[in-house]
Amino acid sequence: MKTQIEQTDFTTLCWFLSHCTLLKRDKMALQMFFVLSLLLAMTSPSASDNNPGTTPHIQDICIGRCYDYSQIKYKSVLPQASGSCEELADKFFTAFSHQPPCSLSMAHYQPFMDAAKQALPEDKALFWSGVKQLAHEYAGDGRRFVTLEDTLIGYLVDGLVWCGQGSPPGQNYSRCPSWNDCPLESSESFWAAASKAFAESARGRVTVMTDGSRADRPAYRRDSFFGKYELPFLNKALVTSVDVILTHPLDQPAVETCENGSLVQLMQDVTARGFNFNCEDDPQAILHLLCADDPVIRECQLVTKYMFPGRGDSEKYHPNHPPVLNSKPNLFESTGNTAGLPYY
Ligand SMILES: *[C@@H]1O[C@H](CO)[C@@H](O)[C@H](O)[C@H]1NC(C)=O
Ligand SMILES: *[C@@H]1O[C@H](CO)[C@@H](O)[C@H](O)[C@H]1NC(C)=O
Repeated sequence: MKTQIEQTDFTTLCWFLSHCTLLKRDKMALQMFFVLSLLLAMTSPSASDNNPGTTPHIQDICIGRCYDYSQIKYKSVLPQASGSCEELADKFFTAFSHQPPCSLSMAHYQPFMDAAKQALPEDKALFWSGVKQLAHEYAGDGRRFVTLEDTLIGYLVDGLVWCGQGSPPGQNYSRCPSWNDCPLESSESFWAAASKAFAESARGRVTVMTDGSRADRPAYRRDSFFGKYELPFLNKALVTSVDVILTHPLDQPAVETCENGSLVQLMQDVTARGFNFNCEDDPQAILHLLCADDPVIRECQLVTKYMFPGRGDSEKYHPNHPPVLNSKPNLFESTGNTAGLPYY
């Protein structure tokens, strides 16, 4: 019975394939082919979901985020921008509306950037590459450090999708191209302009957080967003040093350290611009953040029990039932989920 079903499958398959000779040793390959085709057919609708169109209500979202930013979340944290929320949302919307989605120059966003620009506090700018979640946790919503997404420019549109089209209504709500599809896709051009503006306003020591454990992508690349739009635009009169935080996931080996790999080139590029260069592998502060999600692994065995007898040895009382932290976020990007985000 089983053989008969398999036979039917192969017969159907043979109908599609020319020169089909059904040898025993081909069976496995054909079976693989069949399963793969099925998988492909099943996953292709969701693949196009990964490339959605302009976020519905994008202007309202920007206005709402802007009021949240200026009235509540960052009110006492960062200096405010000059433009009103309605004006900012309008300038942003106008910049890409009715424009081709695939080649939008950074200059289109300049009126928005000018109106939304803020002064950055000294020593607080944090650039990141491949570690968005971790960098944001460390930055603490602008309290420890300020990432691009903590500035109004980044905050208004972080996570949104947008692109224009020539025909009315001027925005494509069904599909926007990915960054890899075009020379300068609407949102890539935005993030390039935003990164440049952010770098230009950094003062004092600037910090760069990046991942030194990726086999497929060095921690520093001259053609990354940091290499193209940030490092070259740091103001030589305002910035004193570039401090690199090189992180590694707790359970992965260091592919690169501060002493080798692409960090050597970064040091050269930084010092050639006249800035001091500092680099630290896995600073304690970052390890403690990572350990909050992985307290029981070996790398996180802290000395609490010696410093505070009685506090860190609670396993004595619950040896088989350590508390379970079930909300672990992924603080590092995994390989392959960065399509459309060459920066990150
Ligand atoms: C929206 O974008 C998709 C993908 O780029 C394109 O095929 C479609 O024609 C666009 N819609 C309009 C009205 O331009
Ligand atoms: C950098 O140094 C680390 C630690 O010594 C080593 O494991 C790694 O392989 C080195 N990487 C390169 C690119 O040389």
